[in-house]
Amino acid sequence: MSLWNKHAIFEKNSIILVLGVLIVISIGGLVEILPLFYLKSTIEKVEGMRPYTPLELAGRNIYVREGCYNCHSQMIRALRDEVERYGHYSLASESMYDHPFQWGSKRNGPDLARVGNKYSDEWHRRHLENPRSVVPGSIMPGYPWLAKTPLQAETIAQDMKVLAIEGVPYSDAMITNASADLKAQGTDDDAGATALVERYPKAIARAYGDKGKAITEADALIAYMQMLGTLVDFKLYDGKANLR
Ligand code: HEC
Repeated sequence: MSLWNKHAIFEKNSIILVLGVLIVISIGGLVEILPLFYLKSTIEKVEGMRPYTPLELAGRNIYVREGCYNCHSQMIRALRDEVERYGHYSLASESMYDHPFQWGSKRNGPDLARVGNKYSDEWHRRHLENPRSVVPGSIMPGYPWLAKTPLQAETIAQDMKVLAIEGVPYSDAMITNASADLKAQGTDDDAGATALVERYPKAIARAYGDKGKAITEADALIAYMQMLGTLVDFKLYDGKANLR
C-alpha cells in the first residue's frame, strides 16, 4: 500500500473516520480558542468611544422598544460593497457599550451603524412621521406617535446604573446628573451644555424637535440616530494605524 492509499483506512471504517474528524476539528478549535485565555482583550482600543448620553440612551431604548432592529442592522461588514455604501466597517469597540448589541440579523432597510449626520433632524422627523413623505417607495412603517409623546425619562439614571454594573463606564457624576444632562442635550438653551460635553465628548445639544417644546420620544430617537457611527474619527487612522 503506497502512502497515497493510506486514507483507505479512514474511508473503510466509519469509527476511525469519526475519530479522525474529531481530532482534526479539535486542533482547529484549540487554535481558535486558546489565544482567548491569554489575550487581555479581543477588542482593539480606539479613540473617541464613550458611553451614550442620557438622551441618546433614552432614544436607544425607544429604538429597541419599537423593534427597529427587526429591519435594520447596525454592523457594517468588511466587504467591499458594504464599505462603499455605508462607510468604514464596524469595529468591535463601536458596540462595546451596547447592552444588548443592535447588530441585527435582517436588513429590510439599510444598515444604520453610520447613519449619524447623514440627514437633517427635519428629514428624520418627516421620515418617522411617514417614510413615504421623503422616500416615495419606502416600505418602512410610520411612527407618528413618537413626535406626539413626551419623553418619559425619570428612570434613565437607573438604566445607567444597570449598564454600569454590566461594565459601561458611567461615573457617579454622570448618573447623578442624568436628568440635567438629558434636558441640556434635548433643548437649545445653553444651560448645562458645557457640562454635558465635558462628560460626554462630541455630544450635541440642540432642539431635535420643536424649539421651546417638551422633549418628545422622536427627539430622543433622532438624537440617538444622529450620533450613530460618529464617535470614532477614521481620518485619524487612515494610513497611520492599521485597523484590521
Ligand atoms: C418593516 C421594516 C422596517 C422597520 C420596522 C423600520 N424600518 Fe427604517 N427603513 C426600512 C426601509 C425599507 C428603509 C429604506 C427606505 C426609506 O428610507 O424609508 C428604511 C430606512 C430607514 C432610515 C434611512 C436610512 C438611510 O441610510 O437612508 C432610517 C434612519 C430608519 N429607517 C430608521 C428606522 C427607525 C428608527 C425605526 C424604528 C422606529 C425603523 N427604521 C423601523 C424598513 C424598516
